[in-house]
Amino acid sequence: MSRDKMKIVIFGSGNGTNAEAILKAEKSGQLGNAKIVGIFSNIQDSGILKIADSFSVRKQIIKLSSNAPFISKDDAMKIIRDLENFKPDLIVLAGFMKVLPKEFIESCQNMIINIHPSLLPSFKGLRAIERAFKYGVKISGCTIHWVSEEIDGGKIIAQAPVRRMDTDNLEMFRQKIQAAEHMVFPTVIAELVYEFQNSDKNKI
Ligand code: GAR
Repeated sequence: MSRDKMKIVIFGSGNGTNAEAILKAEKSGQLGNAKIVGIFSNIQDSGILKIADSFSVRKQIIKLSSNAPFISKDDAMKIIRDLENFKPDLIVLAGFMKVLPKEFIESCQNMIINIHPSLLPSFKGLRAIERAFKYGVKISGCTIHWVSEEIDGGKIIAQAPVRRMDTDNLEMFRQKIQAAEHMVFPTVIAELVYEFQNSDKNKI
């Protein structure tokens, strides 16, 4: 028996290059039986919301009551109410630069994945690419993981390594890591869509 399309919502705060790679993968059929039903952003003029427009994906602005890096419980409850209009099976954090509180993570248990631009558990947190570069690592990369209460600490789903050459400057290193992200993120999502379609219950 074929299942419903897996509904995916993407959260982001930045340029949206990962969202774009995911949307292109959806368009080309690479994701399988899935649909990106919404893009949520806390930044009104972010690139990711322009990407949403260019792919005609429904947008949702996340209005936060403070500039703090941690989202309050009250703000999280509002996001949960907004999500009810989208009914996602999977929430994809693609450059979402805010920390979701435990109440949010509990109410979306096993439904949230994140991409981080380092080989976790190294360089958790902000400015990971820059910190890895300054540290002088020879290999870094990106990690896709389930979101748990521990920041960048949830179960790892996939990683892609990237070599840092001595001739790389920070911008070249960033571009190589982002290129790896754009390859691995849609692939991981496609695998989760496949699992979803083939699981007994219509949840991951
Ligand atoms: C990506 O490199 C992603 O790994 C990173 O933000 C960038 C977003 O780029 N995420 C984090 O640093 C999360 N801690 P994009 O908006 O072009 O996809």
